[in-house]
Amino acid sequence: MGGMSNGAYAAAYAQSLSDPDAFWGEAAQLIEWITPPTTVLDSSNPPFYRWFTGASLNTCFNALDRHVRDGRGEQIAMYYDSPVTGTKASFTYADLLDQVSRFAGVLSGLGVEKGDRVLIYMPMIPEAAIAMLACARLGAVHSVVFGGFAPAELSARIEDAKPVVIVSASCGIEPTRTIAYQPMLDAGIERSAHKPESVIMFQRPQLPAEIGVTDKDWQECDWAELMRDAEPAGCVEVDATDPLYILYTSGTTGRPKGIVRDNGGHAVALRWSMENIYDVHPGEVWFTASDVGWVVGHSYIVYAPLLTGATTILYEGKPVGTPNAGAFWRIIAEYGAVGMFTAPTAYRAIKREDPNAELLAGHDISHLRNVFLAGERLDPDTYHWANDVLHCEVVDNWWQTETGWPICSNMRGLEPMPIKPGSPSVPVPGYDVQVLDEVGAQCDRGNEGAIAIKLPMPPGTLPTLWQDDARYVSGYLSVYEGYYLTGDGGKIDEDGYVYVMGRTDDVLNVAGHRLSTGSIEAALAGHPAVAECAVIGVADDFKGQIPRGLVVLKGGIDASTEGDRIVKELVQRVRDEVGAVASLKQVDIVAGLPKTRSGKILRKTMRELADGKTPTIPGTIEDASVLDALAGTLRHTVH
Ligand code: COA
Ligand code: AMP
Repeated sequence: MGGMSNGAYAAAYAQSLSDPDAFWGEAAQLIEWITPPTTVLDSSNPPFYRWFTGASLNTCFNALDRHVRDGRGEQIAMYYDSPVTGTKASFTYADLLDQVSRFAGVLSGLGVEKGDRVLIYMPMIPEAAIAMLACARLGAVHSVVFGGFAPAELSARIEDAKPVVIVSASCGIEPTRTIAYQPMLDAGIERSAHKPESVIMFQRPQLPAEIGVTDKDWQECDWAELMRDAEPAGCVEVDATDPLYILYTSGTTGRPKGIVRDNGGHAVALRWSMENIYDVHPGEVWFTASDVGWVVGHSYIVYAPLLTGATTILYEGKPVGTPNAGAFWRIIAEYGAVGMFTAPTAYRAIKREDPNAELLAGHDISHLRNVFLAGERLDPDTYHWANDVLHCEVVDNWWQTETGWPICSNMRGLEPMPIKPGSPSVPVPGYDVQVLDEVGAQCDRGNEGAIAIKLPMPPGTLPTLWQDDARYVSGYLSVYEGYYLTGDGGKIDEDGYVYVMGRTDDVLNVAGHRLSTGSIEAALAGHPAVAECAVIGVADDFKGQIPRGLVVLKGGIDASTEGDRIVKELVQRVRDEVGAVASLKQVDIVAGLPKTRSGKILRKTMRELADGKTPTIPGTIEDASVLDALAGTLRHTVH
């Protein structure tokens, strides 16, 4: 990058690929091990690469005990700021260690042991982070389910993870309504063949749950009562390669993918990323506005800041409406955050409400060095707006639940580089990012193709899918041998900057929330009037993408008289089954769906038509007139 480069990035990147043992062996020294690593990269069983095989540690020890021992006991580890309840609280490292040890005692009292799964279904309250860290302390494997998901998503996760205990809270709080969790949890468990032994409920005064009043197959307990009698539990030694958590993410089908995160690689990668990518150092304050139910929340609300000995902010609110579009600026000013992280949609929401950023007045945010945005494409308009109003760097970074930390970023700690709007900058050390064509050859610079990462991927990335090596290989590694397929399309320019253009599969990204076409389709298909259906994600200026449903009714149903009622019921079904977060508002009743001769629905072709692009019509289309008949409907998206 011409005269501005100090060479630190180029040197780190080159070494990370040519000598990963040296590069990650050094990064591993940032972590305190029980058995220090002797093996760094374990390539003994490709394509299943592992990191730090034979080493052992405890992730919770590195996030809490270690800092208390080293003199950070009185430093704030976590601020909780909740405009939706009008509550604020703070936890020092010593406080958090006390709470986590005691909750680990509660879990172990209920029979949770190393390797057991614990499902966490909670809103953005400190107890969610406490439960996660308590699992890590015991070597138990947590699986957090986003509080905005309804019973269908919940039961799919219970069924697959088979948790011994479920930890939940009585309600979530949205600006417009309070959401009772217990009925959704009960329905989620009822529908699953697997039942937990116990459910721990954290009671919130806004809407308490009724504990132990009805007959259930599982024992229901009250968080506060259990904590009163709890004996603190110590850290359990786990292998670096043992799982820390499973986080389910949406694929194309209705069955979510259980992304596995190991203990050792994760701790090393996240600790390294905090200083080198995010430029946040021990003792500094950091604000991630996301949700612990998403990967951004796992990595950058909970684990990375705490592994670093920084201070994290857990914010239960929205970018706008709680109470206004100045909420982020208040938090940055009030707690002294040096960096913040959220999704571009959040900034689009603020820009829409307060285009001149008048609500910045009165908030001193001069200590803010960087704003990081990820989770969806950062459009240049939003980038420029944020850059102009905040007078600090606005940094796009691209990654996925699967990788757990950035694949591409401008590395603000290691070596800040010029920013090109529309690009998340360059590959992060450890990621050999390549753009490939249909036959697996590298595309020329500037030409679009499939973005793939040459194996092995760095520490912290998924080693496999939960108890499903075959699906890991078929879903990610089978298109190009020796490469991980990201599912995103894009290009690399002359300077090595990567441009991510969007998913090439049917995965949806709605307001930075990753959703599956398959699970929304399953909810639609469950309606008695529906013969067949398809869901497509169409471009939207505010949410990036919004889903649209297209349904064919069963014979004998008159759409002209019954259509309105059915559409209303379908919209409600998706809210009840998948969750309101799916944001499905538009369902069109159509005569038929375009398919290939083998019966595959042509979602991509419909999406292109809806987005006003020239559609790619495969030669294998069964009946082109079906598509012609749909064109008018598709071109009309209600935003
Ligand atoms: N629990 C229950 N319901 C939830 C929920 C949760 N945790 N999160 C969202 N919902 C509901 C909302 O209340 C809304 O319901 P409604 O249809 O009755 O209004 C619906 O799901 C859609 O929510 P959302 O997509 O958040 O849209 P919105 O218009 O309410 O808010 C933003 C828009 C921009 C404020 C919001 O999308 C946002 O903060 N986005 C940032 C995304 C983010 O943090 N992504 C994480 C990855 S970094
Ligand atoms: P998730 O697993 O929920 O983090 O979603 C991952 C997907 O979000 C990626 O595969 C991309 O499609 C999209 N995404 C995330 N970050 C970016 C970004 N910075 N630019 C473009 N797309 C992004």
